Amino acid sequence: MTETVDLLLVNATQVVTCASSGPKRGAALADVGIIERGAVAVDEGRIAAVGPTAELQSRFRGRVHLDVTGKLLCPGFVDCHTHLVFAGDRVDEFERKLAGASYQELLAAGGGILSTMRVTRAASLDELVAVGLRRLHAMARLGTTTVEIKSGYGLDTAGELKILAAIEQLAAAAPQDIVPTFLGAHAVPPEFAGDPDGYIELVCKEMLPAVAAWRNESCFGALGVPVFNDVFCEQGVFNPMQSRRVLEAGLHVGLRPKIHADEFVALGGTRLAVELGAVSADHLDATPQEEMAALALSETIAVLLPGVNFHLGSHHFAQARRWVEAGAAIALATDFNPGSAPILSLPLVMAIACRYQRLTPAEALNAVTINAAHALGLGDRLGSLEVGKQADLLVVDAPDYRHLAYWLGENLVEAVIKAGRRLRA
Ligand code: NIG
Ligand code: FE
Repeated sequence: MTETVDLLLVNATQVVTCASSGPKRGAALADVGIIERGAVAVDEGRIAAVGPTAELQSRFRGRVHLDVTGKLLCPGFVDCHTHLVFAGDRVDEFERKLAGASYQELLAAGGGILSTMRVTRAASLDELVAVGLRRLHAMARLGTTTVEIKSGYGLDTAGELKILAAIEQLAAAAPQDIVPTFLGAHAVPPEFAGDPDGYIELVCKEMLPAVAAWRNESCFGALGVPVFNDVFCEQGVFNPMQSRRVLEAGLHVGLRPKIHADEFVALGGTRLAVELGAVSADHLDATPQEEMAALALSETIAVLLPGVNFHLGSHHFAQARRWVEAGAAIALATDFNPGSAPILSLPLVMAIACRYQRLTPAEALNAVTINAAHALGLGDRLGSLEVGKQADLLVVDAPDYRHLAYWLGENLVEAVIKAGRRLRA
């Protein structure tokens, strides 16, 4: 007796499952779980079975039957760190950077994040949703099926809530699952120039309670999607004491921490992430060895963002091999934003990570799927091809997974299946 399912994909040269009971570390990180001549059965938006084609064909009949001979099936990509909702661009700064100005100099001179803040404050909610949706469609074509989006270009209560409202509208309109993160503590706004503590007070006393109230009313509460609370812990931005205040105040209203740590200068942000049980610590370019070891012993995921170093023309990439050897569960993300990473493509991030950080193509693929899902607290629902998980998968026009990180600047993603439905390009 065969069982009828909504969709049966057969004859993939490889099905790459990225299956794991938890975040992948060490040897497990180097294993993507390959089934040759594989098949996937999908029903009611979930994975019903994964295995060899011969076996699944004897068990299932698909209402839709797709023969993917010569192609690869893998989990949809999870982009676990983006700043996707902003107005304008920073193409002028890009040119100034090419002429020698540094990212920090531009920020200290009132540019950088603050120049995007000005145009984002001036933009309407509808404009933010429209640009966000275009970017999300572009990401979907590149295989990204889940996207975390941070606020952080409002830097006042109304501006931050406007960005969160845009993120909520995007969650309804975009092809992906969307996970919101509040990043009120992204930079010190002009109203508080020279008084970062005053701004932190506003974030803790006014913004975070407002964000918690918004979360409770929003679709995210109802969907069981977590809302995170992030801070830019960096020299010249927020110090570890201020970062701790923000993250503890967030925990107090039920928002789990994330942190931008050790991007340029090591200030102890990674240790703070471990101490507070952050779901992830992100950037980690300058993290000292002892803090790597501490994170490796914790549940916190190390999110590396090599597209930033690449865009900034810097060679100070996070030491991915050391992170892996320490036993950390690493993820990769784009950090998509107008200043330090105008990059929408996770395959390009994988390509950079393999070349400059010496990750293997297998490690890079696990880092944008199962481990990235864990960096959003969603590893039990997303990020791998396992029975019961949401059916987010890609048909890739390549015979094996290594091609994803090998070819540069070409989109190998031929079809995207999101919660069991094929997305139209
Ligand atoms: O993750 N580091 C802080 N924030 C972003 C950059 C945002 C921007 O420059 O607009 C980042 O790199
Ligand atoms: Fe970031």
